[in-house]
Amino acid sequence: MARSLPSLVIGERVLTLDPRPQGKATIDVEALSRHLCILGTTGSGKSTCAAVIALELESAKIPTIVLDRTGEYVELLSSLDPTVLRPGENLVISPFDPKDSYAYKQIEDWISLLDHFSHVSHGVGLSPLQYRVLREVFDNYFHGTRRPLAIQELLTRLEQYEEETNASVLKGWPESIEALISKLWPLAHGVVGKTLNTYSRSIDVEQFFQPGLTIIDLSPLPDDRAKNMLSQIILKELYEEVRKKGRTGSIRLVMILDEAQHLAPNEKGYVSIPERCAMELRKYGFSLVTCAGRPSLISQNIIANSNTLICHMLNNQLDIETAAGFFIGSNVKDSLRRLPVGIAMLQVNHPEPKDSARVRVGTVDQRNILALGLRGSASGSEARLEEIIRAEPL
Ligand SMILES: Nc1ncnc2c1ncn2[C@@H]1O[C@H](COP(=O)(O)OP(=O)(O)O)[C@@H](O)[C@H]1O
Ligand SMILES: [Mg+2]
Repeated sequence: MARSLPSLVIGERVLTLDPRPQGKATIDVEALSRHLCILGTTGSGKSTCAAVIALELESAKIPTIVLDRTGEYVELLSSLDPTVLRPGENLVISPFDPKDSYAYKQIEDWISLLDHFSHVSHGVGLSPLQYRVLREVFDNYFHGTRRPLAIQELLTRLEQYEEETNASVLKGWPESIEALISKLWPLAHGVVGKTLNTYSRSIDVEQFFQPGLTIIDLSPLPDDRAKNMLSQIILKELYEEVRKKGRTGSIRLVMILDEAQHLAPNEKGYVSIPERCAMELRKYGFSLVTCAGRPSLISQNIIANSNTLICHMLNNQLDIETAAGFFIGSNVKDSLRRLPVGIAMLQVNHPEPKDSARVRVGTVDQRNILALGLRGSASGSEARLEEIIRAEPL
């Protein structure tokens, strides 16, 4: 049956022993609503593959956001002239801003945001005591005001709370509050502070739903924790907004999330924000494209909820076992082990599961566009440029 829906070209199909292209490798846009996951060890070609997908989404006029932890997408995709948002400059966002709804309805959401931050950045969520203290502090502050609560002010109020509530006579309270303050303190200082410790915001969530590519350049942030927090704030806002917009049969927004193990770790009993997006937003037109170097370290829910899988070379037995479990075909494990840079196994499960195929990621044209981006950017690495251009079909 002929399909009229648009599809994204991600490269050319190749055979194991015959490198001549066997035709285009494509992914139906429709399949993206069931998410896509790109796996492969460091340097195997995941980010290049995600950049190729971003190129295709841009030409299909599908709104796309890249959470760029290292700034590499800013370089690779610079020839597309994307909107680049930089923390502390044109990306300033107050996380505890009641906006137009009732503050106390949002308090639980904010505390849950901090719980997620604590989970992924400190390896453990908030304790019931910390939940309680935060609830009281937020509740007190928003009694009668709609002004956002800046992080520095939250810290001050936590300190006051500790002094005023006789916390010292209650077992474990001072430690609990101090631990919270220590986790939040870095968010109020430096570039992170310039971005989050504010009463204002520089972006309107609606702008993300306009056709075009937006890259959120997280590279100015000093560490993974700060990158996690900003990513989580944005994901949560999008989650809320997409739900508010209601169900749809089309794709409203694609979010590309590289190094997804930071935000969606494989931790028993913990359901991360990206996981909730993957599981709950399928019918709302929110598509998640995740990249991860170690399939065994990323939430298995993320992989299982991705109807399209692209796997580059893997070299760790546990990772190979994990990834191979999601592919159809014989000798997949052996194939994954032997994939050269830029070649990947593609597993498409939409509209029905097909045998996995071998793909050279990026057509010559696509690789030229990425090379143009690298060439145009001030810090583009020459070595990387050479590699991308030279990776001609053998
Ligand atoms: N499809 C490809 N075509 C050409 N070169 C590629 C391709 N994929 C990766 N490379 C080369 O390999 C290097 C590492 O790729 P990258 O996408 O950054 O890997 P990862 O994100 O998995 O660490 C890139 O700098 C690029 O030069
Ligand atoms: Mg990468």
